[in-house]
Amino acid sequence: MNRSHRITFIVILIIVPVFLLALFYIDGDFWNKTSTQIWSFSRISSCKTHAQVQDFPKPNIGPFLNGNPPSCTCQNAPPANQFVSKDELEDLQKRRAEEYRQHQIRMGKQNDVLLLAPANTPLQYPIKGFRVTPMKKTLIPGLVLQTRMRTLYKVSLSVQKGVLSVMDVQEGEHVDGQNAINLTISSSSLHQLNDLLNRVTYTSTVYHIKTEDLAYFSFENHEVIFPIVIRRPSVPVLFDSGKDINSQVTILVKAFLRYKELHVLIKSIRQFYPNIKIIIADDSHNPEKVVGDNIEHYIMPPAQGWFAGRNLAVSQVTTKYFLWVDDDFVFLNETRIESFVKILEAVPDLDVVGGEVQGNRFFFRLQYEEGSSEEGGCIKRVRGTHTPLPGFNGCFYADGVVNYFMARTDAVRRVGFDPFLKRVAHTEFFLDGLGDLLVVTCKGLRIGHQKKSSTGKYGSYRHPPKSDSRNKISHHYFKNHLKCIRY
Ligand SMILES: *[C@@H]1O[C@H](CO)[C@@H](O)[C@H](O)[C@H]1NC(C)=O
Ligand SMILES: *[C@@H]1O[C@H](CO)[C@@H](O)[C@H](O)[C@H]1NC(C)=O
Repeated sequence: MNRSHRITFIVILIIVPVFLLALFYIDGDFWNKTSTQIWSFSRISSCKTHAQVQDFPKPNIGPFLNGNPPSCTCQNAPPANQFVSKDELEDLQKRRAEEYRQHQIRMGKQNDVLLLAPANTPLQYPIKGFRVTPMKKTLIPGLVLQTRMRTLYKVSLSVQKGVLSVMDVQEGEHVDGQNAINLTISSSSLHQLNDLLNRVTYTSTVYHIKTEDLAYFSFENHEVIFPIVIRRPSVPVLFDSGKDINSQVTILVKAFLRYKELHVLIKSIRQFYPNIKIIIADDSHNPEKVVGDNIEHYIMPPAQGWFAGRNLAVSQVTTKYFLWVDDDFVFLNETRIESFVKILEAVPDLDVVGGEVQGNRFFFRLQYEEGSSEEGGCIKRVRGTHTPLPGFNGCFYADGVVNYFMARTDAVRRVGFDPFLKRVAHTEFFLDGLGDLLVVTCKGLRIGHQKKSSTGKYGSYRHPPKSDSRNKISHHYFKNHLKCIRY
């Protein structure tokens, strides 16, 4: 350092603090204004305005609504609206759009937003997991301000579906907007401010059992948004299933005309499971009596159909699980339904475990795109599974399985079997359950299929006329909000 540099250095050393002090005395708000960048001398001196010092533009952090997905395309499948009769279509489309709008509300679509966390924020807040009961005052955890020294610290919080407050406010504590949607807290001590933040509560004022609010939390030029989940806790519904297979599982059968086969099935069940309850839903035209210990035979009005029967049978189950079998199946020496229970008990997330009928597991995946809210979704059934079920050799996640499966009773009841579908319908149950039921298919859980015998009129019911499939697609067009469907 030569002489002139040294002089300049000393001059700066003296002048800068004097200048800063002068500013401080002229304008008591100095520290506050220069909050973000005290060391940025040129800025301080050149913009002595009352605007906040901004070091970078305020970012857009949301909320961004997770909006309408793009249209989907279905290769080789005709648009489902072609299956609706022309004179009905316009009106039906209007009704579908309205029902879909309501469905989106029920699914909480309006709360489905994307939030971004800004960089370098001095604000700490709960990102995930802050949940409140409707109308109940709850402390907001984790609110903290961390920043450099100021003469005054001031933060604001605002919400939409509730009110905010600070508990036990003492004299000398500055809180504005108690029990309102906008809360402002200020203090000359960071410690005191954080102590106040520690006592902030949220109380929802809009009654709803399943919704969300967004809290905006800000300090100077910084703002963050975090979600508040509003949930009425639901009460668990548990099954005391015991250790014995008879208290864990009920066998369900839908019977229609084929009594000879039904008796073979029952006899085969009784050979291995003499006491397990069997529920039969029967919509035959001239029902025959089926009697026996632990057999419940429900006679329905004739030809109510496949899914109506399944629904009736499932509605009568009192065990944790049920086993679905067709009336022409037959239990084999190797049919061990305990294996299903073992898997379901070991993996409580599972809802449905499919076996194999005469070596056939008939599993499939459903390729589903939601599509735009105007047109609807595209669905395609393809053969295949997702990934293996860890720990269970030969079991794979799928979207649908064969007619021989064990299921968690309460999970299936929530999805239900659409009684509109009278004849061949199986995939449709898994379609309705997509995203609600966790399904696997397992090798080696075998049951037999009785040799085909033509039982009078059965075939003509089983194999529907063309008009049926037309009605069916038009039904899915509305009910599942589909643009096209392909099996
Ligand atoms: C709450 O604050 C927001 C954002 O600053 C403002 O738009 C709104 O008018 C305020 N509402 C009340 C009731 O003070
Ligand atoms: C099933 O097991 C029984 C008793 O172990 C045996 O007598 C019968 O032959 C077996 N049946 C078949 C089809 O393997």
